[in-house]
Amino acid sequence: MPELDSPQRQAPDSLMLTGFWYRALPADRVQRNQLHKAVLLEIPLVVGRDRAGRPFALRDACPHRGMPLHCGKFDGKNVECSYHGWAFNAHNGQCQLIPSLTPDQNLKVDRIYAGSYPCEEQDGFVWVYIPEPAPQGAGFSAREEAPEPAPLIEKFGETSGEKYKLAYLTADMPVSIDHGIIGLMDPAHGPFVHQAWWWRSRHSIHEKTKNFEPIPNGFRMSAHTPSSNSAPYKLLRLYAAADSITTTIDFVLPNLRRETIRAGKYWFSSLTTVTPITRNQCRIDVVAAWNIFRWMPFGPELLKFVFTKFVEQDRRTMELQAEGLKHNPHLMLIDDADRPAKWYFQLKAAYLEAKRTGAAMKHPLSAPVTLKWRS
Ligand code: FES
Ligand SMILES: [Fe+2]
Repeated sequence: MPELDSPQRQAPDSLMLTGFWYRALPADRVQRNQLHKAVLLEIPLVVGRDRAGRPFALRDACPHRGMPLHCGKFDGKNVECSYHGWAFNAHNGQCQLIPSLTPDQNLKVDRIYAGSYPCEEQDGFVWVYIPEPAPQGAGFSAREEAPEPAPLIEKFGETSGEKYKLAYLTADMPVSIDHGIIGLMDPAHGPFVHQAWWWRSRHSIHEKTKNFEPIPNGFRMSAHTPSSNSAPYKLLRLYAAADSITTTIDFVLPNLRRETIRAGKYWFSSLTTVTPITRNQCRIDVVAAWNIFRWMPFGPELLKFVFTKFVEQDRRTMELQAEGLKHNPHLMLIDDADRPAKWYFQLKAAYLEAKRTGAAMKHPLSAPVTLKWRS
């Protein structure tokens, strides 16, 4: 495909991809025997934990007359609707009891289901699998199982039983999933949005060259020495030779950004997701795992401080951007700084096309590519 020098007009379509796992809630906010509301891809959910601590997710609407199930009671096993007392198994949504039935009425209660979703706890979050839109007749069918487990943060040295730490942070962004994601992969906003006297000024802007390669459902910024203004790198440099440090950054559909930084036996790994909540709202969740900074008293706190500031700067920026987007302005993407954003849209289109035709997905990158920009 020929690349034009003129900017390309691009309007995000805000389509939300089904058939993937999404982070629903931080695990430490979901208590045993309690019901919590959550929304993913405009689907209202009720999320909870059973008596044994295992999480579950149901559609937050009773299949009888639509009462939100989070208003009901939960005994650690079944969710009871607050309207007519129908009870549903929390894990598969199967109806257990309809109190209004008389002994001679033989309605098959166990053939009725509340909408239910595969649910897993992974690296500090409760994940929910959102299947393709349910076929007609849902309400009388058991749920679809997820084809694979929820995504994991990559960890190293686990075989030796080595300990690592885990931390998360989360922020709501008042923009569509597409703006959230291209904001996450956009290298050019750094010097303008993430200025701080202790960090960098716009005068630290310099030319960068990065190599990218295709990976299944995404692309990778190939292993390289991290940018001198990357947060974990600045800390890691304090006790590893600067040139021994390498980082890899992957983006994978629908919304996963994995960053791995390694320096000998030390590692820092993060999995950031941008989750579609509604058409005009998304949420960014950063979860990091690391085995470094164990001997450094302020390491993790400092890192969390830096990340919190960054995410807050991005959140504030997107809040302002949402003002500008209200009236559907024409937008553009330019080379090379917006090329990852273009790839994102192309990946998404290719994924949907493959699903529509049943053919193999046509990856937008056929070979490694080098991009240059100033940031
Ligand atoms: S609406 Fe839930 S039991 Fe009737
Ligand atoms: Fe940012």
